[in-house]
Amino acid sequence: MPMIETINLTKRYADLVALDALNLSIEAGDCFGFIGPNGAGKSTTIKILATLLKPSSGQAMVDGLTVGYQNRQIRPIIGYVPDFMGAYEDMVVTEYLEFFAACYNINGMQRKKVVGDVLDLTDLNYKATAEVNSLSRGMQQRLSIARVLLHDPKVLLMDEPASGLDPRARIEIRELLKELKRMGKTIIISSHILPELADFCNTVGIIERGKLLFSGSVPEAMRRAKLGNVIHVAVADRTQQAAQLLTKLVGVTKVSISDSPPGVKPSAGDGRVINISFDADSKTDVSDVPNVLVNQGFRIVMFTEEAINLETAFMRLTKGAVQ
Ligand SMILES: Nc1ncnc2c1ncn2[C@@H]1O[C@H](COP(=O)(O)OP(=O)(O)OP(=O)(O)O)[C@@H](O)[C@H]1O
Ligand SMILES: [Mg+2]
Repeated sequence: MPMIETINLTKRYADLVALDALNLSIEAGDCFGFIGPNGAGKSTTIKILATLLKPSSGQAMVDGLTVGYQNRQIRPIIGYVPDFMGAYEDMVVTEYLEFFAACYNINGMQRKKVVGDVLDLTDLNYKATAEVNSLSRGMQQRLSIARVLLHDPKVLLMDEPASGLDPRARIEIRELLKELKRMGKTIIISSHILPELADFCNTVGIIERGKLLFSGSVPEAMRRAKLGNVIHVAVADRTQQAAQLLTKLVGVTKVSISDSPPGVKPSAGDGRVINISFDADSKTDVSDVPNVLVNQGFRIVMFTEEAINLETAFMRLTKGAVQ
């Protein structure tokens, strides 16, 4: 049974169809990246799963429990991080966490321990006595995450936890999310910033105007967007001949030689790089490339695979490239 499942989930706001028959299936322990432009329906979906909104039709289930019918059982197993945290006048960090722990009926020594644990996990111990309103936006986001970890939920619903953060704070949030994933939590995280999610999400869903355009693994998203693999190779000498040889490999669609390598510089040779594009559907293993070259006596001085470009995949998928 999936940890999170939606069946034809639909949400209307008057005439507007914000979610249009959304079918999601997320397994326990998955980290699911929910990607879409403004107004796509990400927050609406997350709020429904957090039991804060009722579906207009269709169903949303968390751990086999149905939103709208079993909300009281769902709430203890989820932690919802909204896109913005409200203002908490005159409250210091530990008071804030103790307040929420009390809401979850965590009392006495247990409460002190849990508050200490989440402060450790989110690296906020040094701010334990600071006023919540004095924290930077990045720290407030971490505190927001600390708050939803108090009752040790199985499922984390995070609505753009990295929005408005500087690069350093983004990296800190990402590290924290990786840690939570290692702890076995099922995570849904929404974002417009795609390359950030590719790093730690094992599955992604792409939504636009309330419709799910794609749901699956990151490599599958790439394949569906018809984005092939590109690798860059440099050899010590005879670059032209090496390029010639590689054109004959199965699945190779294009071979070119460039002078200025894209972001990488070979350690030896004439500084020229061979760029090899593979067909997205090709079964060829990119590790065949060095084998072929070495077998023909070429000396490889550089070999890199182009980073997954989820941004491009997303643009193609939302332009209707998916049938
Ligand atoms: N309370 C509401 N009343 C009326 N319309 C709403 C309400 N909440 C959301 N909508 C509309 O529903 C659609 C989906 O909104 P939603 O907030 O779920 O999008 P989102 O993907 O989270 O966007 P963003 O990236 O901007 O956060 C939008 O067209 C939005 O205007
Ligand atoms: Mg939103």
